[in-house]
Amino acid sequence: MSDNTTAEHTGRIVELLAAHPWVARARPAPGGGVLVVPHPAALAASPEPGPLLREHLDQWTEVYDWVYETAEGRHADDLDLSGWQASDTGAPLPEAHMRDWVDRTVDLVLAQRPGRLLELGCGTGLLAHRLHPHLDGYVGTDVAQVAVERLTAAGLPGTAFVRAAAHETAAPRVRETMDAVFGPGVLPDCVLFNSVTQCFPDLAYLAAVLHGALSAVADGGTVIVGDNRHSGLLLDHFERLERTRDPEADGTTVAARALAAAEADEELSFTPAAVAAAVRSQPRPVRMSIHARTMAEDTELTRYRYDIVLHVGPHADGPAPGHVRRTPWDGHRESDVPEALRGALAEGPVIVHGIPNALLVDAPGAVTPYALRAALEGVDAAVLLDAADPHLLAVAAPADRAPAATENLPAPAGPLAHEPFPLFVRRRLPEVLRDHLRRAEPGTTLPAITVVDVTGDGHA
Ligand SMILES: C[S@@+](CC[C@H](N)C(=O)[O-])C[C@H]1O[C@@H](n2cnc3c(N)ncnc32)[C@H](O)[C@@H]1O
Repeated sequence: MSDNTTAEHTGRIVELLAAHPWVARARPAPGGGVLVVPHPAALAASPEPGPLLREHLDQWTEVYDWVYETAEGRHADDLDLSGWQASDTGAPLPEAHMRDWVDRTVDLVLAQRPGRLLELGCGTGLLAHRLHPHLDGYVGTDVAQVAVERLTAAGLPGTAFVRAAAHETAAPRVRETMDAVFGPGVLPDCVLFNSVTQCFPDLAYLAAVLHGALSAVADGGTVIVGDNRHSGLLLDHFERLERTRDPEADGTTVAARALAAAEADEELSFTPAAVAAAVRSQPRPVRMSIHARTMAEDTELTRYRYDIVLHVGPHADGPAPGHVRRTPWDGHRESDVPEALRGALAEGPVIVHGIPNALLVDAPGAVTPYALRAALEGVDAAVLLDAADPHLLAVAAPADRAPAATENLPAPAGPLAHEPFPLFVRRRLPEVLRDHLRRAEPGTTLPAITVVDVTGDGHA
């Protein structure tokens, strides 16, 4: 091709790409190929997911449809652990550990004293099977059709299941299902989504789901966002994986590999501050508590995940934050824990903070979340993440003072989240556009397409 014909060809390709509805702008790249800026509407999370975001959601639906169809982890009707594998070996997580994981989640949910519970992303019903006997009504939703069908067929009393995504709490079919279980127009007093946020594309989608959940819940109720991956612990997670994979590698190599793996991670992880930011503009007051996972076994589920409870509305439990004493941890060894806690708790409501998590840091006074829970057996208290640093733990006593631990704290340093959606868009949009060119101009030479500006604000 002559220079003129090449320029003409590039011009035509750029025009075709710019006309695609998912593209805001396209222009020739300086070194060859084409640069495209995605259209913000294609990336949007609300009011309805844009087409590219929808593709990201659909990808997870396909994963779980397949996982549940094959049901390789099915132990019993109420214990289908399909999909629960260790990141390093790919081996199923031990059954006893998963039972502990389920029990701790059930404890957290029941501690909020729910009556009518809406679960988003209910999966195989690990929680539904155990929660429904304690509730007046339970409605479960999931994007995976096979999960919804199996749970419906199980016929658990006082339950109903409907296929819906987490952002569809206001969809007529979800409302109709709630009408049938809770009564016409009656709101749930607890909306739960547990171990689902890792499938979300970005913080905008998380915010859309949170807004839907908060609008759906009755005054005085709770929204529980459980088993979240903490972005502030992502590097710890990948460093551990890299060290296990290659024990001979030096520290610098491990750190570099871990950083690359964390940047390429395809699941959403976020800080509690991201949730606080997303719920700040709610019409009703929302107070937040941040709970540590306290299973006995040291796995990635215990180390790097956490739960959030949002207490919603003017009737939210608990006294004003200023009434709760805060005291730093002064335990020295794990064997000191009961003694140190007893001392701190003796003088009334308290938040004990700054407790080094022995699973994550080697520091004087470090304690595992499990040891804290064991020491607090029979005491009205909650084991929390220290809101200032995810490597630290905290204790609130009584447990309903837990939201006080997150109030009046400075914003944490560092990014709010790791979002997988920009990576997805950089990979997926060129595939879609090349396909578009193939159809529009059969036989045309396809250019390299690079996506720039995946933030959706339209600036290249
Ligand atoms: C790891 S499983 C957790 C299941 C269950 N919540 C539990 O704790 O056992 C994740 C579930 O989230 C569902 N899911 C993924 N993305 C979703 C979305 N956007 N909306 C609703 N459910 C979703 C999947 O189909 C899957 O069943």
